[in-house]
Amino acid sequence: MRRLLPEPASGVDPWDAYADAPALRVGMVMSADGSVTDAEGWTDGLGGAADFRVFRTLRALTGAILVGAATARTGRLGPARLRPDLRERRGGPPAPIVVVSRSLDLDWTLPLFTAAETPTLVVTSKAALASAAAPPLPPARVIVAGDDDVDLRAAVRTLREDLGHRHLLCEGGPTLAAALIGAGLADELCLNVAPALLGGGPGHTRALGGLGAEVPVRLAALYEDEGVLFVRYLLPRA
Ligand SMILES: NC(=O)c1ccc[n+]([C@@H]2O[C@H](COP(=O)([O-])OP(=O)(O)OC[C@H]3O[C@@H](n4cnc5c(N)ncnc54)[C@H](OP(=O)(O)O)[C@@H]3O)[C@@H](O)[C@H]2O)c1
Repeated sequence: MRRLLPEPASGVDPWDAYADAPALRVGMVMSADGSVTDAEGWTDGLGGAADFRVFRTLRALTGAILVGAATARTGRLGPARLRPDLRERRGGPPAPIVVVSRSLDLDWTLPLFTAAETPTLVVTSKAALASAAAPPLPPARVIVAGDDDVDLRAAVRTLREDLGHRHLLCEGGPTLAAALIGAGLADELCLNVAPALLGGGPGHTRALGGLGAEVPVRLAALYEDEGVLFVRYLLPRA
């Protein structure tokens, strides 16, 4: 990839571009007109190989990967895996995926929960766990954060301080990403902008549509690879 900002450079390794992982990074890919889903309602068709290189790198650089329950419910999110080169650079097994859910309405037989090399974690509230029709099954592990509703701040604290995942990555979807940014819990937004205008019809989900209020951002770096723009924005911390 090449760096356009701050100082132009070519032949940049994505690992070096993103190695300075903050406490909580949000990483998402979207079309140039702001859709985070392709025509099939998933993300694979958006950014191509260049996006996947950065996606895999962000995963390898993090302690845990947060996703919203609706993303898990698509059934297309597999357990985190690491390619041999990234496993060697990371120096250990993949980061766990952490599914955040208010409802616990999830299919615990998905490979995401049953076949993860590093067991998948589920963040929910005390009330949701107590009243769940089908509570999470081992090997998935539960983190209770909040009594009546999920307390994202408490969840982040538990992941960082109790479980030792100092660097967290939220991969979306937009609802969870917007909640973390809106609560002032995210330090950085890594937005990968694919060279496509998708028209925003039914089935397209808009990036960070649920933010609900302005959040000032500061451009930290800009990269390009195969037409995809990789933007790093710094976010204000609450
Ligand atoms: N382009 C990309 O980079 C990217 C990345 C990921 C996903 N996606 C796409 O995005 C779509 C899903 O996005 P989405 O915005 O609809 O859903 P989402 O953010 O994946 O999940 C929303 C769900 O997460 C839980 N949640 C979110 N915020 C919460 C909070 N503050 N407290 C407690 N729980 C919270 C709730 O789970 P419960 O419903 O269980 O209560 C909520 O319904 C999918 O189509 C997926 O393919 C795109």
